[in-house]
Amino acid sequence: MKSVFVLLTFLAVSQGIIKIPMMRGKSARQQLEERGLLEEYRSKFPHNPAAKFLPRDEQSVVPMTFDPDTTYYGEIGIGTPPQMFKVLFDTGSSDLWVPSVSCTSSACVKHSKFNSSASSTFQAGTRTFRISYYSGYTSGITGYDLIKIGNLFVDHQIFGITETESAFLDFVPWDGIVGLAFPGLSDQGGTPLFNNLWNQGKIDQYMFSMYLNSSVEGSMLILGGTDSSYYIRTLQWIPLYQATNYWNIEIRSITINGNTVACSGGCVASVDSGTSLIIGPSKDITNINGWLGASSDPNGEATVSCGVTSYLPEIVFHISGYDFALPPSAYIIQSASECRTGFASGTWILGEVFMRQFYTAFDVGNNRVGFAQAVRS
Ligand SMILES: *[C@@H]1O[C@H](CO)[C@@H](O)[C@H](O)[C@H]1NC(C)=O
Ligand SMILES: *[C@@H]1O[C@H](CO)[C@@H](O)[C@H](O)[C@H]1NC(C)=O
Repeated sequence: MKSVFVLLTFLAVSQGIIKIPMMRGKSARQQLEERGLLEEYRSKFPHNPAAKFLPRDEQSVVPMTFDPDTTYYGEIGIGTPPQMFKVLFDTGSSDLWVPSVSCTSSACVKHSKFNSSASSTFQAGTRTFRISYYSGYTSGITGYDLIKIGNLFVDHQIFGITETESAFLDFVPWDGIVGLAFPGLSDQGGTPLFNNLWNQGKIDQYMFSMYLNSSVEGSMLILGGTDSSYYIRTLQWIPLYQATNYWNIEIRSITINGNTVACSGGCVASVDSGTSLIIGPSKDITNINGWLGASSDPNGEATVSCGVTSYLPEIVFHISGYDFALPPSAYIIQSASECRTGFASGTWILGEVFMRQFYTAFDVGNNRVGFAQAVRS
């Protein structure tokens, strides 16, 4: 009897977890490098990873920037019958948008486009939206439709249909973005997708989590809870820092071999699946890169000799009484031509470099983030 009860409980719990596979596509950086266009793009769209965290201006513009390395995406369907899109699941923004069939920008031509006339459940919205980028912008109209994510359906979800997209989106492997930050950040002004999943009773726990594998396949967005097969030991829970619209947490310090190398006296960082690297103020990043013996190139990228990477130290993030140690295998990014460190200048952001090492739970209901060592990726 007892074992039957346990089994039923297990089934009930696992039913509430929806797994959305994510792919790691070829990054814009790789595609531009192959075409010999990286330098041209870098000068046109300087890398400013923290741009989207700058305060919004009076026009309510959500700043974003060209991040050539962000590569994880999954699939959603919009409309009836569903039109499928590859989307970046971004914990650093709160809007959902995909290109429109009427968009003639080169970035739209290269991606899947939404045709509202082909959806029997589409309803036009009244708002326009405009997302400003470090260079250029994306703008369009809003609408409401049925969204399919995994085997779940969300009714009457507000989303943006872009009419214009900047050229820097030409080479990203995804068509659009699903924002997973808090509603107050939304430029479209409606309820974001994940909050609607909860409001419409589609998930058992007001939480999602992410496992980022370093290979093409195997990464997962988990809606409605966590999946312990993707991490070892237990999740360490960290309260959100104040009530903000971002997934902000407080870091106590960052050390190498017991020496504080950055974030002296504490700092606040955003946990952002839409940023590839670990970002921090330039004096902290310069100090970390100095400890690693890295040299900086004119683009602000720090590189080390690929031969020494295994001798580099662990970098330890002290957060809420826990220690999260990043080994060089996590923070060195090796490409065909070089070994870059995964640290760049801006305001503090823990991006994919951190999240690949630590499975991350985003607990909306309890305003906290959980980290646990990810299974070997
Ligand atoms: C949009 O869908 C309508 C209805 O199915 C179709 O007639 C039209 O050709 C489509 N437009 C484009 C640009 O694909
Ligand atoms: C992660 O990727 C590796 C290949 O690099 C693969 O062997 C492994 O099974 C993947 N992990 C999961 C949990 O899918």
